[in-house]
Amino acid sequence: LHAIRGELLHFVADPADQGATSTEHLPDGVLLIENGHITECGPADALLSRLPAHIPVTDYRGKLIMPGFVDTHIHYAQTDIIGSYGEQLLAWLEKYTFPTERRFADPAHAAEVAGFFCDELLKNGTTTAMAFATVHPTSVDALFEAAQQRHMRMIAGKVLMDRNCPDFLADTAETGYADSKALIEKWHERDRLLYAVTPRFAPTSSREQMTLAGRLFAEHPGVYLQSHVAENRGEVAWVTELYPEARSYLDVYDRYHQLGVRSVYAHCIWLDDADRQRMADTGATMSFCPTSNLFLGSGLFDLDRAHQLGVRVGIGTDVGGGTSFSMLQALNEAYKVLQLNGQQLSAERAFYLATLGGARSLYLDDRIGNFKLGKEADFVVIDPAATPLLARRMAHTRTLAERLFVIMTLGDDRCIAATHLLGERAYVAQS
Ligand code: GUN
Ligand code: FE
Repeated sequence: LHAIRGELLHFVADPADQGATSTEHLPDGVLLIENGHITECGPADALLSRLPAHIPVTDYRGKLIMPGFVDTHIHYAQTDIIGSYGEQLLAWLEKYTFPTERRFADPAHAAEVAGFFCDELLKNGTTTAMAFATVHPTSVDALFEAAQQRHMRMIAGKVLMDRNCPDFLADTAETGYADSKALIEKWHERDRLLYAVTPRFAPTSSREQMTLAGRLFAEHPGVYLQSHVAENRGEVAWVTELYPEARSYLDVYDRYHQLGVRSVYAHCIWLDDADRQRMADTGATMSFCPTSNLFLGSGLFDLDRAHQLGVRVGIGTDVGGGTSFSMLQALNEAYKVLQLNGQQLSAERAFYLATLGGARSLYLDDRIGNFKLGKEADFVVIDPAATPLLARRMAHTRTLAERLFVIMTLGDDRCIAATHLLGERAYVAQS
């Protein structure tokens, strides 16, 4: 049993839903943690006075403690191509992505990148991520091993890709199925790890592979499925040529039984309302990846429409199409994308999406996402005055909402003072 003291903020509902209070804020609060789980969350004065004196208290007063961030879409193998110049999606894949993913045939390279990747997530306050590996089964082993060593929550899978890609990155429908099945048996629900069937996107899978991906998803209840949909207009046009029988790009996945609870689709920009309604009805999730959508010139996500139709939405960094590991930076750019789309993103809603909303979008809110009794004690310690500019700007804020908005606008990894997994400190900033 141990205690954490500081300013606590977490969410119990979506601030966009009217009615119930969404936010719990304790200016001087305490989290009690036992065996990696939250056993109590309350005001410091009341809680500390009835605790036995010998219980260790980690004092983070002056810092803001929130549930760890949930990154719902990222590619660990693209760590080394962030900020690659000059292309939109399809040319960017050919020119930068496929060559860098090729290197993951080498397990030593995969292990080195996986270790850096997990450390970088923690340095940015991200405690749960849903990640693409590469087509190589050993690339999945490398990522899960790195996450397991650090006790992180990680959802990941081997990319399925058997056409319209270089030969050196292609599997086949049959090997993709068999390799994925073996990885599910090896890793799914081992410690904090979860498997995701990972067809890269409809253009790079044959009909046979799409069928088998849907079968893997159906045969393993609890396993996830992740892919990309409707990111870029050239990509959408290509899918129309490759699958003329489908009503829409999303309908391709539907026809192969890849929409459902625990299926997570990155981007979801060029959808119509019939697509959105189908995602809502099947329980599928949209991952909104603003830094990527701006960097690759893909388009503007429609958050209001997704919410109106009742679709689950999480935030993703989409590194390396995305330009930062920082979920704070993802929120900053989400605000700007929505501005360009005539929509608003309050700071409360933004931090909800990065924490409880992300957990709900991954159907993990029974385990993570806020400080309710019994949740896994993953949290981030934010220094609201981490830089001279932040300190100055903070001095001119009055409300919690203003402070949060400045943190997401100006903040990045420099604001992360520490990150805890299952109560234990997994990252601490050098001061
Ligand atoms: N669509 C298919 N593959 C990818 C990828 O690696 N990144 C992004 N952003 N979109 C994709
Ligand atoms: Fe992606």
